[in-house]
Amino acid sequence: MRRSILVVALVMLGVIQAVPYGGNHTNPPVRVELPWDSERTRRLAGRLCFDCHSKVTVWPWFSQVAPISWLIQRDVEHGRRVVNFSEWDRRQNEAPESATALRSGEMPPGRYAWLRPGVRLSATEREDGRGTTARDRMRRKGARQTRAGHG
Ligand code: HEC
Repeated sequence: MRRSILVVALVMLGVIQAVPYGGNHTNPPVRVELPWDSERTRRLAGRLCFDCHSKVTVWPWFSQVAPISWLIQRDVEHGRRVVNFSEWDRRQNEAPESATALRSGEMPPGRYAWLRPGVRLSATEREDGRGTTARDRMRRKGARQTRAGHG
């Protein structure tokens, strides 16, 4: 019984690979990049934000495998639409929210850090002088939400 479930699951996994959505991993040409205030900011954004908010997305091997590929494709399409650091020649109403989004821990999304342990912020990237990293805050926010959810 357990074996047949496994076989069915594997067959399904094979079948969903044929869905074309999630397979479009293009990096269209960069138009105009944001004029960064410093190389350090650019590096930080490159590590934490570019995969979803630029045209220089790095597509890891698992971005080819459904169903993860669908989630990644969706994130990149939505992300590029709202804020695109490679299209600084067009009006982007949401872009000024970027620093707040990072500071509040809203961005990068938690699911991204989960898939890419490399994006965790290091202690040297504390960015508010109060000794807390965006990730600490993210964790605290999560804890608050959990508590709120329980009572
Ligand atoms: C895993 C993909 C992904 C990464 C990485 C990511 N974002 Fe986003 N971002 C999105 C998506 C998808 C949206 C639009 C929908 C939403 O709000 O979830 C978005 C929305 C935004 C918005 C619009 C306002 C808002 O909060 O909805 C801002 C600003 C933003 N991101 C900034 C950033 C910054 C700055 C970074 C890096 C620190 C970053 N994002 C990293 C996927 C990502």
